[in-house]
Amino acid sequence: MVDLKGTVTAIIGGSTGIGLATAQAVAEAGGRVAITGRSRDKLDRAAATIAGDVSTHAFDGRDGDAMATFFTEIGSLDHLVLTMSAGGGMAPLTELDDDRFRAVFDNKFWPYVSAVRHAMNVLRENGSVVMVTGAAARKAVPGAAGIAATNGALMAMLGPLTLEMAPRRINAVSPGVIDTPYWESVADDRRDALFEMAAHQLPVGRVGSPEEVAEAVVFAMTNRFTTGAIIDCDGGVRHG
Ligand SMILES: NC(=O)c1ccc[n+]([C@@H]2O[C@H](COP(=O)([O-])OP(=O)(O)OC[C@H]3O[C@@H](n4cnc5c(N)ncnc54)[C@H](OP(=O)(O)O)[C@@H]3O)[C@@H](O)[C@H]2O)c1
Repeated sequence: MVDLKGTVTAIIGGSTGIGLATAQAVAEAGGRVAITGRSRDKLDRAAATIAGDVSTHAFDGRDGDAMATFFTEIGSLDHLVLTMSAGGGMAPLTELDDDRFRAVFDNKFWPYVSAVRHAMNVLRENGSVVMVTGAAARKAVPGAAGIAATNGALMAMLGPLTLEMAPRRINAVSPGVIDTPYWESVADDRRDALFEMAAHQLPVGRVGSPEEVAEAVVFAMTNRFTTGAIIDCDGGVRHG
């Protein structure tokens, strides 16, 4: 049984999907959790599903001042989990012009970098950071250059940051296709077809759930001998 009593975890992008499932798991283990997102409505709905000590903080993670204010308000932290999504960015390079490509970095890479930098000042000695990245950087898929580059850049920082943050730890969890609101921008019939195709190609024969990725995140948070690691929680997509 994981015991997180007496700990504080911040989840940037914690109102739906993998972030919310992680918040629920942290609260169930007795930890205090602070979740963020842009939509006040989504945060309120999320908080209603978390049985435990939860606070909600509405701000846009791309806003550097708002991010700084959040970390000042929250004070000392045991764990930081990063689950903000990049939104869009799936297109062949010929269609992904510089503005669209930059937006993928603006939506995920830079907010993650900013949050990790703030966390380095407030994380307790046994603390950890978990960056939720993505399998696009681990398995070649046409049209995924933008998100592969973003997630790959985050994972490339693990080595140096492991050394800079020690003894505090930093890990990445790299999900494959997971059934979350991330896919809501895709029309229902297209999403169903995509999930079916992914399930067919994956060694496990199905797409993943946010709860399964949350289990990997909680492992990375709590296993004191794991740092600088990429945990692939992707149904075996790299071998499919
Ligand atoms: N689902 C998948 O198949 C999959 C696959 C590979 C990687 N991933 C990665 O896993 C992570 C979690 O994804 P998910 O599937 O759980 O997505 P999700 O359900 O869409 O959750 C994204 C969360 O981030 C918040 N968010 C998005 N943009 C934000 C911004 N600019 N400022 C503040 N908060 C923001 C959302 O709340 P608001 O919208 O209210 O801001 C929400 O709480 C993402 O980094 C995603 O790239 C997901």
